[in-house]
Amino acid sequence: MNGETASLRIRGSEISLGVRAATLGQDVVDVSSLVANDIFTFDPGFVSTAACTSALTYIDGDAGVLLHRGYKIEDLAAQSNQLEVAYLLLTGELPTALEFDAFRRAVLACRDLPAGLYDVCRALPKDTHPMAMLNTLCAALSAFEEIDIDMQDESARREVAIKLIAKMPTLVAMALRHQAGKNLTEPDAKLDYTDNFLAMVFGETPVPVVVDAMERILVLHADHEQNASTSTVRLAGSTGTNPYAAISAGIAALWGPSHGGANEAVLEMLEEIGDIQHIETFLARAQDANDAFKLMGFGHRVYKNYDPRAAILRTSCHEVLESLDSAGNPLLRLAQALEARALEDDYFIRRKLFPNVDFYSGIILRAIGIPSSAFTTIFALGRIVGWIAQWNEMHRENLKIGRPRQLYLGPGPRSFVAMPDRA
Ligand code: SDX
Repeated sequence: MNGETASLRIRGSEISLGVRAATLGQDVVDVSSLVANDIFTFDPGFVSTAACTSALTYIDGDAGVLLHRGYKIEDLAAQSNQLEVAYLLLTGELPTALEFDAFRRAVLACRDLPAGLYDVCRALPKDTHPMAMLNTLCAALSAFEEIDIDMQDESARREVAIKLIAKMPTLVAMALRHQAGKNLTEPDAKLDYTDNFLAMVFGETPVPVVVDAMERILVLHADHEQNASTSTVRLAGSTGTNPYAAISAGIAALWGPSHGGANEAVLEMLEEIGDIQHIETFLARAQDANDAFKLMGFGHRVYKNYDPRAAILRTSCHEVLESLDSAGNPLLRLAQALEARALEDDYFIRRKLFPNVDFYSGIILRAIGIPSSAFTTIFALGRIVGWIAQWNEMHRENLKIGRPRQLYLGPGPRSFVAMPDRA
């Protein structure tokens, strides 16, 4: 608890370190004073390191619990929507009807993009990966939007947060339309946040079951504590760079197959496995230390239990495929068989490897008609809410530039040797 101390005995001296209590989950030992004792902590991958304080999201990896500002993800996925979750993450409270209406109108009012951004998109080759397009377009917003923002001004931060939440669907839709070789669409003022996104992508008003499925996918991807892309947004933002650049850095980090790129990799994996009879071969490959193959959509740095988001998406998968009349979807059957076999396999059991958020999301997105190469842009569309809420929280706290140190293992000082004298 607060006031408690930990002591580190090293080289004949005892260093007293403060312990800070968490509201939920792990307390922390504050090691920030260690540098004064000429020593660092060492934690590659930040497995045991809390990089910041935050009040947005709590994960209990052992219990498979995910809370946003104290509300269970199961309740938010079932009863809320992306804009309400955005309001909750940004402000800390669920909105009243009046507050929600004002927030929703503010978001819907700034979904448009500058005309120049459409030209930037058209200049990209059509076979550009959608995440490359999204990364480019988000960074390009810095060329058209006001970037001289007083980060210490709460209302200025809220304004740019609303802008980014509002424009991300239009950016993603632009990337998907350009990839499909279709005309670029603009927001329809008559439509709401998620149905407008789908209408911009597909050029027609979406059916309610698809809107509901997309809404749930966005809510489930909204925020997830200090994951790699959120930590990237925080680190970039800590330099004082503008939020469009910081979010663009987050998009780049999310793209990786170990992170948000896994949903695309899951579909590629299922298509490579092809048939239930090949499952054993791929499970063996996943356990072979000499084979780089991993079971995509499985495992998690924090969850050592079923990712609660995966459980919700598993149910949603059935509902969506049922209503889209593709219940017999071979990919779903293969995914279910693969999951069942992995969950009873000692290798996965011993390492506590369970399905994560990416395992089922791709099957739903494929059924909706999103190309697999664009799955991670949908992840980014959900996560813009968490990225900008975390960025906002960081700027509200006492901001220090993020600057990790290292364990240096290079050569000691040596004299320069002119090239003719080198061996
Ligand atoms: C996301 O951080 C977040 O919150 C991320 C995220 C979010 O919402 O932001 O939840 C989204 O990124 C979900 C994860 C999506 N990625 C994948 O599905 C890719 C496949 N998963 C793995 O690459 C891996 O599980 C990670 C990257 C997700 C986690 O890696 P860790 O925590 O560094 O774990 P590890 O690599 O140390 O694994 C421990 C052991 C190792 O074996 P041993 O050395 O002990 O013998 O488990 C093995 C690993 O080889 N292992 C796997 C595996 N995942 C871990 N073996 C086979 N298949 C896998 N998927």
